[in-house]
Amino acid sequence: MKKHVVAYKALSPALLERLREAVDLSCIDITGESGLARLEEALPTAHGLIGSSLKLTPALLDKALQLEAIASISVGYDNYDLDYLAHRGILLSNTPDVLTETVADTAFALILATARRVVELADYVKAGKWQRSIGEPLFGNDVHGKTLGIIGMGRIGSAIARRGRFGFGMPILYNSHSPKPEVDREFSARYCSLDDLLSEADFVCITVPLSEETSGLIGARQLALLKQEAFLINISRGKVVDEAALIEALQAKRFQGAGLDVFEKEPLPSDSPLLNLPQVVATPHIGSATHGTREGMARCAVDNLLAALTGKRPPDLVNPDVWTRRMTDHPK
Ligand code: DGY
Repeated sequence: MKKHVVAYKALSPALLERLREAVDLSCIDITGESGLARLEEALPTAHGLIGSSLKLTPALLDKALQLEAIASISVGYDNYDLDYLAHRGILLSNTPDVLTETVADTAFALILATARRVVELADYVKAGKWQRSIGEPLFGNDVHGKTLGIIGMGRIGSAIARRGRFGFGMPILYNSHSPKPEVDREFSARYCSLDDLLSEADFVCITVPLSEETSGLIGARQLALLKQEAFLINISRGKVVDEAALIEALQAKRFQGAGLDVFEKEPLPSDSPLLNLPQVVATPHIGSATHGTREGMARCAVDNLLAALTGKRPPDLVNPDVWTRRMTDHPK
């Protein structure tokens, strides 16, 4: 009998066909009315789950007693409780690599948009306010040659560093668990403490994954270290920054501006003070949201899920300990 897979994110016809050949597939639109209730109903018979943008809490997964694997269509896996999955022996996979360059493009879109006031000035033109050559109050800031500070130097951090170094001639500073000699060599980058990075960089770009360690990493004290002319760019997770402290610092104009793709609460509430600040460019978590990349991510997740459900090690396994235990308990 075919295994039962529940897809809780829309997939392309090609991927649906691939899944249908291999498994018994239920597709649930969790954004629609009663979507969550329908997901809960489907869970008891599910062997596999594929999707993203939903916190799969232990309470929810307790209903999925047959669950063997979850394929997340995302690189971040903060929506899953790894201890719980380990306890249940459920394999979790993600989609690294395929989105790296697209997310780095998004970081640069935010760097350029904030520094050159692209959104604010495009709105100015649309509002019919462009009556004569603009004056100094509407000038922006240069990006090329400015210092780029990158917090977290994984795949995405490196792709941002490459753009900054070779595209914009920017000196690169970075902070991560430890210095990375290959990064220092390739981008003439300098490893430094978080405090030094915050106080020296013109653009501070956050790329660390959300974890217990990084939650609230950038709070009031850290924001106070930013230079007056600095911009803060966040393309990782909203909770890495203390949003209340960020709003206060921006309202007080302690630094130049912020490009934010992620927020403590998403979608960003319509009464967020961030929306009233002209020096903020806010985008709706679009880091990887291009047609090509989202399809690539979904394809990668399907590969991971089908591998897991046919007894093969998923290529992008987040919790290899679960796999090792499975192989020890049930050797092939
Ligand atoms: C990811 O893949 O983690 C991106 O943030 C999209 O969710």
